[in-house]
Amino acid sequence: MKIGIDIEEVKRFSKLIKDKTFLKRVFSKEEIAYCLSKKQSSQHFAVRFAAKEAVWKAVNHQKNVVITDIYIKNEESGKPQVFIKNKKVSYIDVSLSHTANIVVAVAVSSK
Ligand SMILES: CC(C)(COP(=O)(O)OP(=O)(O)OC[C@H]1O[C@@H](n2cnc3c(N)ncnc32)[C@H](O)[C@@H]1OP(=O)(O)O)[C@@H](O)C(=O)NCCC(=O)NCCS
Repeated sequence: MKIGIDIEEVKRFSKLIKDKTFLKRVFSKEEIAYCLSKKQSSQHFAVRFAAKEAVWKAVNHQKNVVITDIYIKNEESGKPQVFIKNKKVSYIDVSLSHTANIVVAVAVSSK
């Protein structure tokens, strides 16, 4: 079993997400659409970034995975699900939480 955690400040992302090149480089189309559909978009972007870092920490023994291979898609219930290289990864669970200022993500890999 492996674990990863990351914490980010929302204000950093309020600025970064105005850069379309950054958005497209770091987030999937679905992540961008999800975050932009929310009132506090920067919180949702920031927590997804934290989730990518947390997942990477939990899988970095797999040398061929980079941050931009990882994305998060919410199930109908709202529960976040990890995808790596466009494949659903059921052996990794993530949990996300955000406030106006801080976001945190934890990832646990059963592998
Ligand atoms: C889903 C819920 C747990 C989110 O908690 P919150 O304090 O509002 O918000 P947080 O910032 O901690 O968490 C938000 C994240 O939770 C995650 N989440 C949403 N639904 C989820 C679910 N069903 N299972 C796991 N995670 C979920 C999402 O990743 C979301 O972030 P995202 O939209 O950017 O992906 C909460 O809204 C809820 O429904 N709680 C149920 C408990 C309840 O009945 N409470 C009311 C009575 S006191």
